Amino acid sequence: MKIVGTVEALSQWRAAGPDDVGFVPTMGGLHEGHLALVAMARARHPLVVASVYVNPLQFGPQEDFGAYPRTEAADAKKLEEAGVDVLFFPSDAEIYPRGRAQQTRVCVPGLSEDLCGRSRPGHFEGVTTVVARLFGLVRPRAAYFGKKDYQQWRLVQRMVADLGLGVEVVGRETVRAADGLAHSTRNQYLGPEARQKASGLYATLKAGAALACSGMAPTEVEKTCHERLGYLGFVPDYVAVRRASDLAVPAPEDQDLVILAAARLETTRLIDNLELSRPLRADGGSLQSPPKPG
Ligand code: PAJ
Repeated sequence: MKIVGTVEALSQWRAAGPDDVGFVPTMGGLHEGHLALVAMARARHPLVVASVYVNPLQFGPQEDFGAYPRTEAADAKKLEEAGVDVLFFPSDAEIYPRGRAQQTRVCVPGLSEDLCGRSRPGHFEGVTTVVARLFGLVRPRAAYFGKKDYQQWRLVQRMVADLGLGVEVVGRETVRAADGLAHSTRNQYLGPEARQKASGLYATLKAGAALACSGMAPTEVEKTCHERLGYLGFVPDYVAVRRASDLAVPAPEDQDLVILAAARLETTRLIDNLELSRPLRADGGSLQSPPKPG
């Protein structure tokens, strides 16, 4: 595996390389979820690039930028074993050469301010800005994102469509621990007691998905899950049932939905989600839609 720290070195490698590059952007602190994305890219492309960059632009002033796990040597070893060809490991000066304040920004209006964007203002603008720059530097055919960060995945897809970047943005199923907790770099912050409680987030989403499938209205599902999270010791930020394709509030005829939640356990903010397919009634409406007149 080649480790590249500068834009110039990456551009040189890229200029000489073939067309078909698969790309996995990360912030390091790598776990099985990240490595599953690498495996997917490895199976589909002759060359795989991964990046490790803790992007300051996507952290709020009160967030964990300073404390975010930085485990470069271990990350490099894992990526090499997973078959990555090039690890791009840039400094801030390489990513934002004119400084952060002067950096051209990419913002997806609406969707970036909803759900997690409500409690993390500026977060998604930081994500789309860095991902757009990384796509420009790596010029991948496809990039691999985890559905664990469902809103991020959908935002990057929207950005690529709106800017005509020509990158396939693939979403991969969430990799979970045996008790259902989605792997996350931030799970390291959980103490033993919180770690035990944490699996309640996914359990709540599963229960919510079952209710939605049995015909309960989305707003009722949201309320029920919100209460249940509180009962399990979480401080819920939101629970939302949305249309899977664009995270819009679902219309009665929408079948493919996703239930998303963010909740705090002690000081750790956890997110998770679950896709679901709601059965249609014989008359073409979803189970929860009001009966058609006549
Ligand atoms: P990071 O949190 O390091 O995640 C990198 C990628 O791994 C993301 O696409 C994320 O969704 C995916 N991932 C994380 N946990 C996963 C799990 N349990 N199962 C499957 N995939 C998982 O997301 C970011 O970094 C950054 O915002 C980034 C896109 C790199 C931009 O800075």
